Amino acid sequence: MTTSDLPASPRVSDLSELANRLFREATGGGVALTPQALPRGVPGFEHSATGFGGSVPGLPAVPFATPSYLPRGQLPFSADVPPYYFLGAPDQAAITPSFDVNAIRSDFPILQEHVNGRQLVWFDNAATTQKPRQVIERLGHFYAHENSNIHRAAHELAARATDAYESARETVRRFLNARSMNEIVFVRGTTEAINLVAKSWGRQNIGEGDEIIVSHLEHHANIVPWQQLCQEVKAKLRVIPVDDTGQVILEDYAKLLSPRTKLVSVTQVSNALGTVVPVKQIVDLAHAAGVRTLVDGAQSVSHMAVDLQALGTDFFVFSGHKVFGPTGIGVVYGREDILNATKPWQGGGNMIADVTFEHTQYQNAPSRFEAGTGNIADAVGLGAALDYVSRIGLAAVHAYETFLLDYATAHMKEIKGLRLIGTAHDKASVASFVLEGFTTEQVGKALNEDGIAVRAGHHCAQPILRRFGLETTVRPSLAFYNTCAEVDRMVAVLQRLSARRS
Ligand code: ALA
Repeated sequence: MTTSDLPASPRVSDLSELANRLFREATGGGVALTPQALPRGVPGFEHSATGFGGSVPGLPAVPFATPSYLPRGQLPFSADVPPYYFLGAPDQAAITPSFDVNAIRSDFPILQEHVNGRQLVWFDNAATTQKPRQVIERLGHFYAHENSNIHRAAHELAARATDAYESARETVRRFLNARSMNEIVFVRGTTEAINLVAKSWGRQNIGEGDEIIVSHLEHHANIVPWQQLCQEVKAKLRVIPVDDTGQVILEDYAKLLSPRTKLVSVTQVSNALGTVVPVKQIVDLAHAAGVRTLVDGAQSVSHMAVDLQALGTDFFVFSGHKVFGPTGIGVVYGREDILNATKPWQGGGNMIADVTFEHTQYQNAPSRFEAGTGNIADAVGLGAALDYVSRIGLAAVHAYETFLLDYATAHMKEIKGLRLIGTAHDKASVASFVLEGFTTEQVGKALNEDGIAVRAGHHCAQPILRRFGLETTVRPSLAFYNTCAEVDRMVAVLQRLSARRS
């Protein structure tokens, strides 16, 4: 195990103190936005030819505070552009050209679909995101002009396909600010990514009596592989509790860390509640205790910039289809020295340096974890998706989505009988709820009748829903192509249902 770079475990009291300090840093300074001050039906989103050019005279200024998980003072707008300029008066509309929701929407052909006679509202982004034409066209181009197996053969198309695949890897590296392309392993998605770490690094480094820490917020994909490993090697799974808002309790986390802990594996954003978890603090605390970390970025990478060198986690995983890329492609980031010290989990072509009947010598990462012919075209499609998101800019995406979620939350709160599940200070994209008098399926069906797609169910995160006394919720989840007008359509359906009940 390559833990020589990590310090020996400090005492629990030291960790508690560190946890307190980190928690204060994580939560201090964030000021809630006040979209309640905004009227419903904000014009200018869907009908303005100039995007945010629609003006709303008389709107109060919306205060903006840097979200606590962005570096202090890093505003997503240049200083001379008013925050939420897209709601501002005409003289405030000298807009940053990088974010125009109407232009963005025109890149996504599926948003023009009609369902039950109404234009589709896609509020199921936590399940999967829609694809811009740049991704769709890139896939078409690959199959029309580049398709070949990679890393082998002497012909032109093999070179084109290899270049396309490896330049997608470089795009992922840049997107995450990883140190080296060798740290980027392509897999099918987040589930396969976590299974890879559990079944390779986990089996090699976790044994009887050892402990793995996850949080109560985890998706089943970040529970089951660890549970399986624990059963196999007689290790123990420990769980960081959450408070009533759905935020992890860092102090309790610190108390769970012990000399037995070998790994902390946590999500960066909860798929069921939207909680943004203070992963930097969690990673720092784990490393201070000599423990390796994995961060599940499945629900975060489409909403906020991730800088792996700043975050410092040992492993990071995400899925392409949640960040406007194709299904069937995802990524394991692992620190290069750790990957190269880890035995591969699957054997076959591509991952070997030399094979005899007696012995096989493996390639270094990333090839050692990419046995067989991978999902070449979709890796290339993922590269196109990340380029697309990067062109828009995640700071602008984050600011817009924060506003949109606050807008939705404020108006959902006004609906009688509606209970929001997950009210943490830092949230991304998700507005889970239940509506008194209706099953979650009934609410989902009513929304679908109006062309609005949400997920209703347990969201593959049963433990956290049960923490709130529920088996299912309705889960609208937003992306940067959604608008206030779409939120209004959802709120109108929910108000109709609520009125029927009373
Ligand atoms: N993980 C996906 C979701 O949250 C499927 O819906």
